[in-house]
Amino acid sequence: MIPCAPVLLLLVLPAVECDRLQISGDYFTKDGSRVFLSGVNLAWVGYATDFGNNQFAARKSSYERFFKELHESGGSSIRIWIHVQGETSPLFDGNGYVTGLDSSGTFLSDMNELLGLGQKYNILVFFCLWNGAVKFDKEYRMDGLIRDTGKLTSYLQHALIPWVKSVKDNPAVGGWDIMNEPEGLINTQRSSNNPCLNATHLIPGGAGWAGRLYNYEDVQRFINWQVDAIRQTDPGALVTLGSWKAQVNTDEYGSHNHYSDHCLTQAGGKAQGVLQFYTVHSYGKRFDNLSPFKHQKSDYKLNKPLMVGEFASKNGGGMAIESMFQYAYGHGYCGAWSWSATDNYEGDAWETQKRGVASIRNNSDASKGTVHFTL
Ligand SMILES: *[C@@H]1O[C@H](CO)[C@@H](O)[C@H](O)[C@H]1NC(C)=O
Ligand SMILES: *[C@@H]1O[C@H](CO)[C@@H](O)[C@H](O)[C@H]1NC(C)=O
Repeated sequence: MIPCAPVLLLLVLPAVECDRLQISGDYFTKDGSRVFLSGVNLAWVGYATDFGNNQFAARKSSYERFFKELHESGGSSIRIWIHVQGETSPLFDGNGYVTGLDSSGTFLSDMNELLGLGQKYNILVFFCLWNGAVKFDKEYRMDGLIRDTGKLTSYLQHALIPWVKSVKDNPAVGGWDIMNEPEGLINTQRSSNNPCLNATHLIPGGAGWAGRLYNYEDVQRFINWQVDAIRQTDPGALVTLGSWKAQVNTDEYGSHNHYSDHCLTQAGGKAQGVLQFYTVHSYGKRFDNLSPFKHQKSDYKLNKPLMVGEFASKNGGGMAIESMFQYAYGHGYCGAWSWSATDNYEGDAWETQKRGVASIRNNSDASKGTVHFTL
């Protein structure tokens, strides 16, 4: 437990003022001490139908149960999927331009209620905006934002920037993950002598499984512009990208980091549109050779923190869930989020995940980070 300095608010009301989550070198800090982000992916209660258009009212009690039980298990962070592929938010016009966050105007109050749960149960919320792991059925939505910078600009102006403005001072905001596994939609046929753009090395790993729709520069620009908009609106915001495997996030082992500052700014041209930390996922009956569960963070030679943002013992190289959390804690990563509270087909049962989170709840090694901290 890291105490924060007590301050006096409005003469009489005692309050506690904590610093927001920050980054120092390759780890997170909170109120001056190293912390380890332990938690889960929720990632949704109703897939793509949780926020905006009065949808959260019917979801809130389920969200509250997961927040409460995560807190009781000793977790302090959670990853939540918001737009997915644009099914119910943001609001698009008939030409694929974004005109707002949702049609009935509840999106921002839904976010506020969600963050209220974070404050109540001491849990940092990480918003995952988009999903690249499946092929959508409404291609004029997310697809248009990736291909057309005019449409992307309409999203930034009418949805993302108002959203960031509305939540940026809330202590339960942990950070932003622009897109889940863009590699599902990467065109792996694209060969280039520019290593940021050459995707052929990802063919053996199975990238492009959902459809080979986009060249890397399209995805990198999509990311770069959104990070820039978030960081221009809230310069202290922490932004990441939930990549599918470490293969796309390191220049070591003959691989390439497609989300480096260089690759993102080269594609999008916005100097502030770079990530503050990296996130990789890892699944496998047997883990691939670059899995974070076969390495330590320093092996990847990254100049930013590295989060293990999705994993499950069900598909976890034979490891028990407790061993997976302990491995992530012990090998230099900045946090661990198991998959997922509601998707128990791909992921572990909720009770299993709570055991994993609970197994590291008291960890407080100064060189690895304290698991328990106060928002
Ligand atoms: C793209 O990467 C592959 C695998 O690393 C490499 O063999 C190929 O030569 C590269 N393409 C170009 C045009 O350099
Ligand atoms: C953590 O600490 C609590 C309170 O002291 C204790 O009940 C619990 O067994 C501990 N858990 C682990 C995994 O060490």
